[in-house]
Amino acid sequence: MSLRDLAAAGGIRVGAAVSDTVFASGDEDYRSLLAAEFNSVTAERAMKWKWIHPEPDCWEWEANDELIRFAETHQMQVRGHTVVWPHWGTPTYITKCEDAGALRRHLGDHVRELFSHWGGSVARVDVVNEPLHWLEGRHAESVWRTLLGEDYLAEVLALAHEVDPDIELWINETHTDVIPDKHDLFTRTVADLVERGLPLHGIGIQGHQLYPDFSPGPPDPARLHRGVSTFADMGLEVAVTEMDILAHPTDADRLDVQAQLYGELVDAALSVEACREVTFWGVSDAHSWVDQHFGPDRAPLLFDREGNPKLAYDAVAAAFASRARRTTAV
Ligand code: XIL
Repeated sequence: MSLRDLAAAGGIRVGAAVSDTVFASGDEDYRSLLAAEFNSVTAERAMKWKWIHPEPDCWEWEANDELIRFAETHQMQVRGHTVVWPHWGTPTYITKCEDAGALRRHLGDHVRELFSHWGGSVARVDVVNEPLHWLEGRHAESVWRTLLGEDYLAEVLALAHEVDPDIELWINETHTDVIPDKHDLFTRTVADLVERGLPLHGIGIQGHQLYPDFSPGPPDPARLHRGVSTFADMGLEVAVTEMDILAHPTDADRLDVQAQLYGELVDAALSVEACREVTFWGVSDAHSWVDQHFGPDRAPLLFDREGNPKLAYDAVAAAFASRARRTTAV
């Protein structure tokens, strides 16, 4: 049984981040693996502001459109990623903007054009990505916070909802499962939005496990479970949106250890009913941002460089099967 069949049996989505360059290269093995094993896609880059709307009058729709067509052909859902991202992936006409009025106009134009182009083909969107500092329990400094003010998350949600009341609005954050201060601040921030009735559908916990190259702490299934439960208890849907587990080339038994961690983490997340998606940040070890950013041969994904399932795949499949059994038992 494929991962997507197991996921369907458990009422969840299994996603992969899709590289625009590999996708466009005509690599048929990549495409068939994607369609066979996953039922949701996230564009790794193509829908980010800097790529899709690099200048105020320039839109680059090709990679976006090709991915959406592929998803439709193979009955996959599309997760839009991302609109407001304080850290990165944003063109300079936004990051260097000095005037709140101009920034609001750019944001409104961007969201209206993007959502109307999507026209319902994108089910959900990470409308804000990583509002907090990468490694510390404080807000990320950016043009959004400086010009629109501390409450810019509420403003972005309200605007996006007004433009398209049907698209699910999500906030996506990283490292809350390994940095307690981030978890605490994120919890307070989200609780405030929920209490004020803002149109927030779900919370994405990215789930990158980049220890020891970047993350300050090792993967921690109990903390992931606590994070997922926290947002589920607020009435929100939760997803693990960008999972990968760095396996350091010098670690003994690294692929066995990785598989065990994959199993425990996915199980920890999916034991909460409101967690209905696990997306992996890539398809196979042949193409991963981890190698590009943190060093070669970190082998972070479920398939090896040749596209064969790794031990990690079996561990994730087992966790999906447990979810499916619990779903059937209800
Ligand atoms: C990364 C992509 O994988 C890279 O290809 C790109 O160069 C930079 O962005 N958190 C996120 C993702 O939310 O969008 C990032 O993706 C990885 C970290």
